[in-house]
Amino acid sequence: MPHAEPFVIAAVRSATSQSDREAREWIRQEAAHAAAHRVFNNQLTSRSRVARALDRMGAWMFRRLANRSEAFGLAFAAAFELVAFASARWAEAGLQKYFRGADETAATLFLWHLAEEVEHKGVVHELFVRNAEARRRYPVALLAAFVALIGFTIVGGLSLFCSSRHVWNPVRWVRLIGWGLSLAFVLLPVLAMSLSEQFDPASLVDPPWMAAWLREYDPVTETMPLWTAAGGAGDGQNAKRSARRLPSV
Ligand SMILES: [Fe+2]
Ligand SMILES: [Fe+2]
Repeated sequence: MPHAEPFVIAAVRSATSQSDREAREWIRQEAAHAAAHRVFNNQLTSRSRVARALDRMGAWMFRRLANRSEAFGLAFAAAFELVAFASARWAEAGLQKYFRGADETAATLFLWHLAEEVEHKGVVHELFVRNAEARRRYPVALLAAFVALIGFTIVGGLSLFCSSRHVWNPVRWVRLIGWGLSLAFVLLPVLAMSLSEQFDPASLVDPPWMAAWLREYDPVTETMPLWTAAGGAGDGQNAKRSARRLPSV
């Protein structure tokens, strides 16, 4: 994320006029995601050699992609947003399952990020459809975005899994493969639909809990209620133990 989001921000910024309020708000949100994930990744890379290698690989990959055309960058950003939105739908459908036992601050970071992806799902698509060259480059950009997001998720997730004792437990393997297949089941139809000229992300149904949770954001303290597997989010106690939202960069 700290490498991918600066790349999509640069692509969208070059396709945006100063007066486009929605796009500027989108850039502000994505910059906040990148900054928060940078802090999170720094903690991981200080503890894990695999995380350090993946972080370097991410930096290398997005430096290479930055050499491609602006139209490719915009098409990549549109595809990236769609993968993020579909991932949010998948995550919400299995919230208690996937995040049970997770570190509460890390879970809150991921869910806050996914919730904002739902909130701004159509912004990049609107810029993208006005650019004929970006439309032509969309299939390749979609593949690249899929590999970037899902490929890193698989490699990162499996390396963590293999470094834990769970790797010897066949039940955990069955569960992990089942989760992977369920994500593919949600993701692939949406990505296939997006190849159509008539596709509009506005036609996709939003996961309802995420929008409700975002309304609990406190603009004064810039915090979200901490998500907990036992109580969800939003009760008074959770709000006190809030996860700090990082300022935009
Ligand atoms: Fe984001
Ligand atoms: Fe986004």
